[in-house]
Amino acid sequence: MGIKAGVVGVGPVGQNIYRCIHELGLQCDEIRMFATSAREMDVDGEMLSVLGLGTEYSDEGLKLFEGLDVVFFAGREGEKGAAKTWAMKAIDTYGCFCIDNGSDFRLDQGIPLIVPEVNMDVATSDTRFIASPNCSTIQLCVALSPLYAKAKIKRVIVSSYQAVSGYGRDAQADMVQQLKALDPEDLSKPLGHDPGIFRKQIVLDCVPHIDSFMDNGYTKEELKMRYETRKIFGDDTMDVVATTVRVPVDIGHAESLNVEFDGPMNAETARELWRESSEELGIVVIDDLAKDTPGWPTPGSPKDATWAGHKYADERSYPTQADVLKGEYKNLVLVGRARDDYSRENTLNFWCVSDNLRKGAATNVVQIAMGLVKRGIIG
Ligand SMILES: NC(=O)c1ccc[n+]([C@@H]2O[C@H](COP(=O)([O-])OP(=O)(O)OC[C@H]3O[C@@H](n4cnc5c(N)ncnc54)[C@H](OP(=O)(O)O)[C@@H]3O)[C@@H](O)[C@H]2O)c1
Repeated sequence: MGIKAGVVGVGPVGQNIYRCIHELGLQCDEIRMFATSAREMDVDGEMLSVLGLGTEYSDEGLKLFEGLDVVFFAGREGEKGAAKTWAMKAIDTYGCFCIDNGSDFRLDQGIPLIVPEVNMDVATSDTRFIASPNCSTIQLCVALSPLYAKAKIKRVIVSSYQAVSGYGRDAQADMVQQLKALDPEDLSKPLGHDPGIFRKQIVLDCVPHIDSFMDNGYTKEELKMRYETRKIFGDDTMDVVATTVRVPVDIGHAESLNVEFDGPMNAETARELWRESSEELGIVVIDDLAKDTPGWPTPGSPKDATWAGHKYADERSYPTQADVLKGEYKNLVLVGRARDDYSRENTLNFWCVSDNLRKGAATNVVQIAMGLVKRGIIG
């Protein structure tokens, strides 16, 4: 027998939760979809009935949660957001188990913040609410986890290249409008963006501003990566310094990382550790000699010459954001470009890519629910 699941929010994350429940095999007898207003909605050719909760708390709205074992929250964040309005009331009234994609409760003491591959064990039989981390934090933690198990991490410097869908469906629609307004004869012409979404036009540009600016000059997104990563690894000594950048990509976040370890670590060991744990952690290493690439070796690289004392080498493969749209990679974390940092001992540079709507959100929460079922905490 399956469980009864609710999904609050039918934006890109809510829709992907619906897909992941089926694709990953969370056994459900019922999937109840909610948004602010009722509607019929087409998801991959299937017409779903969406129940309307309204934009504020009501007793009638709360009754719609009756009988649900687990509720996935994929609504807007904040005081009047979905999780703040409904989650604790659904727990207290109907004993629902709540798993939240938003940031409202992630750093609260006593609220587990879970990436199942890293810290599923922090959920106990007393837990009723679990927070799922920020999309950029999740892929970072998955990629770091087998390396951390080998050598403690002292410091992470990360720059992100984040897709517009990380903001939600409104940002995707705004980017499409900007693309339609492109004039191939004059690429400098303003495209008419919505400054309520991103402050600057996103097409043909990159914007180093995600979420609010904070009093230390960092953005909230950058600080989320710091505090959430520390909480997930249970290690407040690990320093995480982030620069988060919005790029004109629809789906898929990329990160460039520089990681300093407390013990021996190099690029070759990292690739081995990722490959060994690939099945268990959902990591794919794309960092080999790129023999199948058209144009290999890199056109214009003279094989026997040297430059600045370095020999030219054969081209290597690497993952990009477009790769995560391929079916086989959408729930995984792709890593590549692993290099020893020649300026610092036991320090590594690498590149990591994942689907922000999948492993960065929907896949993670469905995996959490599957972990709870396995542990007998729900179902
Ligand atoms: N996008 C990502 O990559 C990503 C990654 C990790 C976490 N998250 C988090 O996941 C959540 C959803 O993201 P999204 O990109 O799918 O957002 P979105 O495109 O803005 O969609 C939000 C959905 O939630 C519904 N909603 C908003 N407030 C509600 C409320 N008070 N009660 C019931 N339903 C409500 C909206 O209903 P209507 O359709 O009726 O307006 C809409 O269907 C956000 O908290 C976001 O921070 C997103």
